[in-house]
Amino acid sequence: MNSLKDKLALITGGSRGIGHDIADLFAAEGAQIVITYRNEDAGKKAVSALQAKHPGASIRGFACDVADGAAVEALFHAIGKETPVDILVNNAGITKDGLILRMKEEDWDAVLDTNLKGTFLMCKAAIRVMLKARKGHIINIASVVALIGNPGQANYSASKGGIISLTKSLAREVASRGITVNAIAPGYIETDMTSELTPEVKAQLMANIPLGRLGSGRDIAEAALFLAGEGSAYVTGQVLSVNGGLAMV
Ligand code: NAI
Repeated sequence: MNSLKDKLALITGGSRGIGHDIADLFAAEGAQIVITYRNEDAGKKAVSALQAKHPGASIRGFACDVADGAAVEALFHAIGKETPVDILVNNAGITKDGLILRMKEEDWDAVLDTNLKGTFLMCKAAIRVMLKARKGHIINIASVVALIGNPGQANYSASKGGIISLTKSLAREVASRGITVNAIAPGYIETDMTSELTPEVKAQLMANIPLGRLGSGRDIAEAALFLAGEGSAYVTGQVLSVNGGLAMV
């Protein structure tokens, strides 16, 4: 399968979870992969594991805090001008949950900085390259909670709602230059981020999911593959919900 042959895909937070599964599927489809990570050891291990699984692919990894403008500039410098980024997946994200009365200002700032400002900084840097190439696909990972809310996640859901609005505005700014910008709103996906849910909470969640299971990283990767490929050439400014039917909005 070679639907992304020779495309360069940059995936933030690609060392584990959903980002890792997107990198894995895109590499299987022939893309050259760049992942970013925060933890050097885990990042390097992830690059080696992906390389071993896809010996013919080019897999590179860079440490980069997406909330740091200088680090994002350095990342694009390191990737190099000769290899324009064809696909950007803004996947890096964090949670710092708490009811709003108890939510610390620094927890609000940290989540907004990584999730929303990080997406803005990465989009801004990638757009510069994509405008020159007059093509590109940006895929921003939002969340079902941006659409329906969630108690205890005011900061997180606001950041993801912001990502959806950013996606729509940017899509309008760059559509005439051949660049598409879309978001994916995952439901509950089995990753480290959701590993702390108790079996009771998981059972409760599943009772509300018509397809009767939590999602997998692969479920999100398949949606990202659609938005990264030529089959979605006429799709921009959209939010693709991948949530097992949990929310139908
Ligand atoms: P995860 O916690 O397993 O992975 C998140 C990745 O982002 C990690 O590799 C982490 O190092 C990276 N990261 C965090 N802050 C960063 C920063 N400042 N700079 C660079 N990288 C940073 O999470 P998971 O579950 O794989 O989530 C991936 C994305 O999907 C996130 O944006 C998350 O909000 C979103 N999502 C996840 C859902 C789930 O149920 N797991 C549901 C809906 C959305």
